[in-house]
Amino acid sequence: MTRILDGKATSLSIEEELSKVVQDRLNRGLKRPHLAAVLVGDNPASQAYVGHKVKACSRVGFDSTLVDKPTSISQSELLRVVEELNKNSSIDGFIVQLPLPDHINDQEILEAVLPTKDVDGFHPVNAGKMALDLPCFLPATPMGIMSLIERAGIDTEGKHAVILGRSSIVGTPMALLLRRNNKPGNCTVTVCHSRTENLVEHTSRADILVAAIGRAHFVTADMVKDGAVVIDVGINRIPDESKKSGSRLTGDVDFESVAPKCSWITPVPGGVGPMTIASLMQNTLQACIKKDA
Ligand code: GUN
Repeated sequence: MTRILDGKATSLSIEEELSKVVQDRLNRGLKRPHLAAVLVGDNPASQAYVGHKVKACSRVGFDSTLVDKPTSISQSELLRVVEELNKNSSIDGFIVQLPLPDHINDQEILEAVLPTKDVDGFHPVNAGKMALDLPCFLPATPMGIMSLIERAGIDTEGKHAVILGRSSIVGTPMALLLRRNNKPGNCTVTVCHSRTENLVEHTSRADILVAAIGRAHFVTADMVKDGAVVIDVGINRIPDESKKSGSRLTGDVDFESVAPKCSWITPVPGGVGPMTIASLMQNTLQACIKKDA
């Protein structure tokens, strides 16, 4: 029987828990958590993601600040924005929404973020701590996937996880987290990428398959083992005449053909996306709590 890994419902439970913690903080005279998001340019997908993050802040009772900058912003101006957010003691954590325009050196911007405010977990200090299994901010998408697996009660112990994609924000951290000596974790992990030979040989041996390649309907039924847990990280916009907008969002997995073979599968939308946002809220609360201490 196929079960749906419902990221929307799980994220709502997490938000409820966060709201209670915020209320309790306020009752004790403590500060409301405050997240800032830097949005550069007019990429519609980035605008939508940042909009979702700001709305989630209001649902859980966090303050939020949107710093909206034009595509023409220079490297040094953007570095100054980051410096100001680093210094602003009312802001507990902030993110710089990616992708940034081509003339911006992303890495220099991400490295300018104070690691204690880096709630996206993209600073090399946090990435390094994650690799060493030390306490740190975990990147929101892999963190959300781990929470989804944990809250569904899926046993990952000793299982073979195959990850499609080696990006620094999803594929690579996903491999580290699934490999950890932890619950969930303790998987044997294979990371596949654009140069992988005999891809189907790998994917068809996966007990847990994570698709994070950004290609609509790339994973088809012939690539998936019977009873696999399939996690779809893809958010691809494809033409759809039946929609008013003329398009719709779809994942990296061909859901219709793959779902019947799975024990669990995430839908798109309503799977990994809402969990990413909930994890960012959890990191922001942690950033705020660490500042109390
Ligand atoms: N672009 C795609 N995913 C993310 C994310 O998790 N954080 C930020 N800042 N940008 C992204």
